[in-house]
Amino acid sequence: MGLRNNRVPCVALFLILAACISFSGTPAEGSSSCKKKLPCGPSKFLFYLHNTVYNPVVNNTNYFNSIYGLPPNISFPNPFSFGVMNTFEDPLTRGASNSSKSLGKAQGFYVLNSFTEFTLFHLFTANITEGDFKGTIDIFGQVREVDPVRYLTVIGGTGAFLGARGLASCTLVDIDHTPPAKWTLSFDLDLYY
Ligand SMILES: *[C@@H]1O[C@H](CO)[C@@H](O)[C@H](O)[C@H]1NC(C)=O
Ligand SMILES: *[C@@H]1O[C@H](CO)[C@@H](O)[C@H](O)[C@H]1NC(C)=O
Ligand SMILES: *[C@@H]1O[C@H](CO)[C@@H](O)[C@H](O)[C@H]1NC(C)=O
Ligand SMILES: *[C@@H]1O[C@H](CO)[C@@H](O)[C@H](O)[C@H]1NC(C)=O
Repeated sequence: MGLRNNRVPCVALFLILAACISFSGTPAEGSSSCKKKLPCGPSKFLFYLHNTVYNPVVNNTNYFNSIYGLPPNISFPNPFSFGVMNTFEDPLTRGASNSSKSLGKAQGFYVLNSFTEFTLFHLFTANITEGDFKGTIDIFGQVREVDPVRYLTVIGGTGAFLGARGLASCTLVDIDHTPPAKWTLSFDLDLYY
């Protein structure tokens, strides 16, 4: 009697197992891949970005890594350079010093996008080519100069950071306004996969 009654759950379990096995099998080309899981990359990652602006006045042709595009052709004052873009290819290091161990480089741009203060809207790819984790991290968001911590987002990644999303907390580590202007930013990442 007991044995007979146990048969029903056993059959149900078998059907569930069979369904699981058929779902986890290689999907046919073009079929849904929504069950695919991302590998887990690092949950924390920190780097420092070093930026030196090209300034024609001091002609620092031999040491710069970012360049401003032309300002908008307007006849009224534009104290915060609204609409100006800067393209950069900045070295990234593990520590705050520019001579600290290299991690790779960040390539992207920022646009000055406020009429009333300095805000630098950033979009860049951090290409991490050295260290335990190699791959790219795409970072997106506003750097508002007066904020002590600027919260940007990680919108994707490749390699060790495949599919990463999360928070990029950015702080100003150092700035030197003497032309050519140079600064160091830290990016402290909290990553989810
Ligand atoms: C700027 O520096 C470069 C390289 O040192 C030099 O070739 C060039 O003539 C300089 N330009 C000006 C305007 O001084
Ligand atoms: C800037 O705008 C003025 C007025 O519209 C025009 O005459 C001039 O050619 C423009 N300059 C450039 C570099 O486009
Ligand atoms: C690092 O920064 C110092 C001080 O600003 C500068 O003299 C030096 O050239 C920089 N080194 C590199 C590798 O950029
Ligand atoms: C990252 O840098 C490496 C080494 O220069 C290069 O081979 C790779 O293509 C770069 N990745 C991207 C996305 O730029």
